[in-house]
Amino acid sequence: MSTYANELRATAQAMVAPGKGILAMDESNGTCNKRFAALGIPTTEERRRTYRELILTTPGLSEAISGAILYDETIRQSTQSGVPFTQVMKDAGILIGIKVDTGAKDLAGCPNEKVTEGLDGLRDRIAEYYQMGARFAKWRAVITIGDDIPSLTCLEANAHGLARYAALCQEGGLVPIVEPEVLITGDHSLETSYAVTDQTLQAVFHQLRLQQVALDQMILKPSMVISGADCATQASVEQVAEMTIRCLRSNVPAMVPGIAFLSGGQSNEKASAHLNRMNADYGDQCPWRVTFSYARAIQQTALNHWAGDDSKIGAAQQLLYRRAKLNSAASMGQYKPEMEQEPIRV
Ligand code: 13P
Repeated sequence: MSTYANELRATAQAMVAPGKGILAMDESNGTCNKRFAALGIPTTEERRRTYRELILTTPGLSEAISGAILYDETIRQSTQSGVPFTQVMKDAGILIGIKVDTGAKDLAGCPNEKVTEGLDGLRDRIAEYYQMGARFAKWRAVITIGDDIPSLTCLEANAHGLARYAALCQEGGLVPIVEPEVLITGDHSLETSYAVTDQTLQAVFHQLRLQQVALDQMILKPSMVISGADCATQASVEQVAEMTIRCLRSNVPAMVPGIAFLSGGQSNEKASAHLNRMNADYGDQCPWRVTFSYARAIQQTALNHWAGDDSKIGAAQQLLYRRAKLNSAASMGQYKPEMEQEPIRV
């Protein structure tokens, strides 16, 4: 058992406290630059720093956000006035999270499939991040649906990596967010999404047990069971909620404190509506908290508005706050589409 067991349990509970979710802002420099370039924002360290300061200094953010996941560059940065971001977060009561994987790379022998890397030197990096104030971590595995894929090779390699990462995190005092993402990309049906998500979660929980990961000291970050983006028939919000909860209930032990979904390219409104339906219709059947750990579905509107123009920081922060609050409502089953039209202010 980890010497940090009690602390890890308390952190995991705090991450999924009622009405709270997690803000993913751990885009690698490559991904962040791609999003900046699409809006004509210079892809410099200073612009990335300014954008991350915009997010972390959003007034009222902690009303909806329990913790934020940072990238290695970001955890070392400070506000323009010289306050370390880690201090800003501590002062706001927002837990510090850190992405520790080093990315999804081509999986040898398996065309069109990826395996996530980052185990080399991970124990030492975890120790450094803990010293810097981090209390949880993230590792994202990517599963692609296509002709004859995912392969068993891909599912097992990714599940093994997630479990080895999670065990190292718990040894070093960080709550692992275990993120197996089944991509929305493709023309697959809702039923195929269910089958692949089911197989993925089976592999992940088998490996977590093999690696002796304490299930009450982790958070699962799955994708929803959803129609492929190019599927001609798009499942309804009710169907997504029903199939997702069914898949999770048959795979995720009750001991896991919380499930925090990624948004995976869903629209803002769909990401909120799906999460809301799960909580409104099935909340009383779920042994774990069901909430969000969104990046794009919280950030994108604010990023589009700011677009590198610092005179728009205040307005962009209000847009960010708004999406965080709407998803907080959804995590309690209290979101309504009409709320999209209502003013929301701090
Ligand atoms: P999205 O919500 O944009 O899918 O990102 C979540 C995340 O952290 C992916 O690893």
